[in-house]
Amino acid sequence: MKKCGGYSVGFLGVTLLFGGLLCVTGTAAETPPGSTVPLGLPPVPFPETNPQTPEKIGLGEKLFNDVRFSSTGVISCATCHLAAKAFTDSPLSVSEGINKLTGTRNAPTVVNAAYMKLLFWDGRSPSLEDQALHPFVNPVEMGLADHEPILKIVRSDPEYTRAFKNVFGKEGEGITMNEVTMAIASFERTQISGDSPFDRWYFAGEKDALTEAQQRGFDLFVNKGRCVSCHTIEQTQALFTDNRFHNVGVGINAIQNDVPQLAGEFLKAQATMAEVDVKVLTDKRTSELGRFAVSRGLDDLGSFKTPTLRNVAETAPYMHDGSLKTLKDVIVHYNNGGVTNAADPVNDFLSGGIRPLNLTDTEVDELVAFMDALTSPAFAPATPRQTASSK
Ligand code: HEC
Ligand code: HEC
Repeated sequence: MKKCGGYSVGFLGVTLLFGGLLCVTGTAAETPPGSTVPLGLPPVPFPETNPQTPEKIGLGEKLFNDVRFSSTGVISCATCHLAAKAFTDSPLSVSEGINKLTGTRNAPTVVNAAYMKLLFWDGRSPSLEDQALHPFVNPVEMGLADHEPILKIVRSDPEYTRAFKNVFGKEGEGITMNEVTMAIASFERTQISGDSPFDRWYFAGEKDALTEAQQRGFDLFVNKGRCVSCHTIEQTQALFTDNRFHNVGVGINAIQNDVPQLAGEFLKAQATMAEVDVKVLTDKRTSELGRFAVSRGLDDLGSFKTPTLRNVAETAPYMHDGSLKTLKDVIVHYNNGGVTNAADPVNDFLSGGIRPLNLTDTEVDELVAFMDALTSPAFAPATPRQTASSK
């Protein structure tokens, strides 16, 4: 059975339809258990070479939470992607790895990462399977010199040897990082969340699911704010990302005068992707080059991947560098036309889609209220927060 869905990318208000870009291949038996897709989301795409099975998902969850796969024995994937924080490390602005070493970037959520075409803020990784290789050996994350210590554990620990045999039919040297990362990716593909008040209002016609302020916020999101041109909403689903890269004016101002020098040095270094991974997470100034570090296209200077906005109210602070503390700060940044302080000049590489919005204070609050409506039940706070959404 092969299901190929049309996949569309919104760009500056124009929605382009690419037929069959994301295809789900597999048989019903390979579909994960209880995998009814939540309201507002498409079926989860997965590679033909790594079908979902309950046992593989369980193994992946164990690997995701195993602190032994770090040089200090206390950091796992879950340290920075906590279920209780919608799979981020909120309220940290940049992540803390081994020995409290800090990186340069804010941890994006793993929830719905299954729908991302490229992973990381600069898209340097092509798949969840590939992505999972990097944190283990990044010096400011899990700090291992290479992947050998992980293989040693999974080839000898009785629970792991049983699970790898069961899931992949492999043991001893037969177990490689391929199997480890396939299992982790399978677990990540089950972290899917939709069914927010917005989904019930927009896709299921529940008129009372949003407050009036949130409904006005939606209108601003689509029209005056033009947010939807990058944070996409389609007819039957909403990923709130176009899976593309844009410079919205965050971080690059700090290196504005040095861009030619930094970019030049970067190009000269001819770094491999593994080296890029280390460089962008350990050197703040290189980090700000954004997508350029991967594509080496001047258009991509200071560009980062459009993040999803699902559960965003639970994952402060914001942006690739965690520099904006609240959702209100984010809207003010956009309202200023892509600068955090209205008096600052905009950067030379700013996306054409970012211009001053002339939103009133009330409209800013309504946009924030709308983003509060994007939280799925699993991540909703026990006590609803007091914002314009309660009006
Ligand atoms: C020290 C904290 C830390 C640890 C440990 C960590 N991550 Fe992350 N994760 C981050 C940060 C920071 C980023 C963003 C880095 C970037 O974009 O350059 C990230 C990005 C990601 C992304 C990309 C999401 C997207 O939308 O592009 C995924 C998926 C992910 N991590 C999964 C994992 C897995 C799997 C592990 C364990 C193997 C792991 N992380 C370990 C901090 C961490
Ligand atoms: C031109 C494309 C574009 C437009 C238009 C746009 N965004 Fe974004 N948005 C992005 C990108 C790219 C980022 C990440 C930027 C970075 O980290 O440097 C982002 C980040 C965000 C974040 C932070 C999310 C997080 O997890 O850190 C929020 C919130 C947000 N945008 C809301 C909005 C709202 C509300 C509007 C409309 C007023 C809007 N965006 C308009 C592309 C866009």
